[in-house]
Amino acid sequence: MDVSRRRFLSGAAAGAAGTALTGGMLIGGAQADAHAAAGGQAAADSYPFHGAHQSGILTPGPSGKQNASCYAAFDVTAKDKGALADLMHTLTDRARALTTGGAAPDLGVGQPPADSDVLGPDIPADGLTVTTSVGASLFDDRFGLGGHKPKNLTPMRIFPNDSPEPAWLHGDLLLQICANHPDTVHHTIRDIAKHTRGAMQLRWKIEGYNSPPRPSGTGRNLLGFKDGTANPTGGTAEQLIWVDDPTEPAWAQGGSYQVVRLIRMLVEFWDRVSISEQENMFGRRRDTGAPLDGTNEFDTPDYGADPKGNVIPLDSHIRLANPRTPDTADQRLLRRSYNYDLGLDQNGNIQSGHIFACYQQDVKRQFETVQTRLVNEPLIDYVQPFGGGYFFVLPGVADAQDWYGRALLS
Ligand code: HEM
Repeated sequence: MDVSRRRFLSGAAAGAAGTALTGGMLIGGAQADAHAAAGGQAAADSYPFHGAHQSGILTPGPSGKQNASCYAAFDVTAKDKGALADLMHTLTDRARALTTGGAAPDLGVGQPPADSDVLGPDIPADGLTVTTSVGASLFDDRFGLGGHKPKNLTPMRIFPNDSPEPAWLHGDLLLQICANHPDTVHHTIRDIAKHTRGAMQLRWKIEGYNSPPRPSGTGRNLLGFKDGTANPTGGTAEQLIWVDDPTEPAWAQGGSYQVVRLIRMLVEFWDRVSISEQENMFGRRRDTGAPLDGTNEFDTPDYGADPKGNVIPLDSHIRLANPRTPDTADQRLLRRSYNYDLGLDQNGNIQSGHIFACYQQDVKRQFETVQTRLVNEPLIDYVQPFGGGYFFVLPGVADAQDWYGRALLS
């Protein structure tokens, strides 16, 4: 089923049950009513697959992201550039089909079934986005792409205080899979791994979940603080994240540099820290999310009125991350992070933390500058970055004939 037909049908079905149109998104029936009653913006049933940019970065909805995610890094095992192009075609086809939804074909009783049926016979779109990006290693000598690498795409730098674990680092290709429910995320990664077997192999994978607004505003991270409050929005966000730069390769225009950092949180240790110390580390109130010189979550901190950091410490996370000066305005980036849980470590400590993901036009000007200012922040005693990588989000798939990386690989 093509995207417009599917959207038409889901719109018609939702219409029968009572449809709400919120910010261009169709939301149906009871879900829309419940959400409207809560005064919030509901999760979307589907996001467009085709467009100038990939979906899954500037995604509307609660906290600006779906509730469940998976970050899956792959080593590409395709033999040459032609096989890599075939892989990209397959990936595009699967991502298009899964984000659109619909019934899987019946292959008959003599064949393994086309779909796992984890989501039942009529696969729902369930707010799924698949965001495909590539790592610096894809541009080595295997595929002859050396001359086409985005200019600042390198392996992720190891920063002071990082505890890198090689099994959780880098990758030729990264899929960010986000959906309204975790079974949709599982169904998607399983389908894609099955269809791309022999051409790429999973290297590391981690599942994430998002907290709903409690009681309101932005969702919280596992340290208990609202996370995502000061993200750029609207046109400002567009200008900060999409590559639009004649010194970058032509194929890369409309893409975005993506940084994923897997950051363990020492939550047991954190829970023994006083509230004032916790709040001074971030520069915000834990209950409301307001900056320490304000009252409401979205109040703007006034650093000019507090030059010595008597109210918001000079080494607090928010003040170091964004000093809010004219010189640092173009260093802002878009964060879209998730919580993770990985069970226990070998000492019986809770293994959980933060899948930090951010998007920007220039990984050096934005992420690396901000991360360098944060290197010795007091928060570092309670967190431990151990994995992730730098990736480049491919420009969007324009239409039904287009495919991921066409301009790079044709
Ligand atoms: C475990 C690691 C981290 C945690 C728990 C964390 C948490 C937070 C929290 C609670 C806020 C305040 C609310 C908000 O505006 O979202 C914040 C703001 C921010 N964080 Fe982080 N963060 C982490 C890592 C990072 C990293 C690695 C970077 C980038 C290198 C970063 C960049 C920022 C930026 C740019 C802001 C917004 C500052 C502003 O504009 O006022 N954070 N973070």
